[in-house]
Amino acid sequence: MTKSSKAIYKKADTFSKLAKTHGYRSRSAIKLLEIQKKDNFIKPHAKVLDLGSSPGGWSQVSNEIVGKNGLIFGVDKKIMQPLKSVHFVNKGLENLCESDFEVLNENILPFDVVLSDIAPNISGIRDRDNALMDAILIEIRQCIDNFLKVNGTALCKVFHGENFDKLMIYMKTNFQKVKIRKPDSSRANSKETYILGVGKKK
Ligand SMILES: C[S@@+](CC[C@H](N)C(=O)[O-])C[C@H]1O[C@@H](n2cnc3c(N)ncnc32)[C@H](O)[C@@H]1O
Repeated sequence: MTKSSKAIYKKADTFSKLAKTHGYRSRSAIKLLEIQKKDNFIKPHAKVLDLGSSPGGWSQVSNEIVGKNGLIFGVDKKIMQPLKSVHFVNKGLENLCESDFEVLNENILPFDVVLSDIAPNISGIRDRDNALMDAILIEIRQCIDNFLKVNGTALCKVFHGENFDKLMIYMKTNFQKVKIRKPDSSRANSKETYILGVGKKK
């Protein structure tokens, strides 16, 4: 292992420990906390849709911010162990429909915030990985179009490459402001980046 890769793993380990100390289920929770600290885009009382929510780190962080009068709704094709006052549906995004958002006989749509920390299982075969990410981004964009309110905010993970440019075009077309975020807790050698779209256009 080279000196710089050792430093990267040491840093990643620090963030894993930090997440564990605070009782978060994922190291990713720290990434969301960092972006939230900078942009303050999740507000108390907000309704948040967390796409690819399992094991639940982002849902935990969002739940702390929105408080008792807010609402978190997680979606994942993998099961997520229950989290107090977080709603969850065990489905792939491609199968989501409006009726999934019935809570206590009331439809809770639309959301104030849509989050996506989804990534495909990377194979290392560039064309295959790009195609998988492309397919997921189509589903995510559909969720934003259908389930996010006008003026709402979306945060999406994407990997640098063709998909990044495509998502940027979508975000710039559909949001008033677009910001690129690479939190310190995201590994420096990882191509992952987060795009934040503020103020969904009509
Ligand atoms: C990096 S993890 C999310 C971690 C989460 N933000 C946290 O803090 O705990 C990505 C998740 O996306 C989910 N996922 C991937 N493709 C999906 C799809 N098409 N529909 C729903 N969930 C998907 C995976 O099952 C995985 O749990």
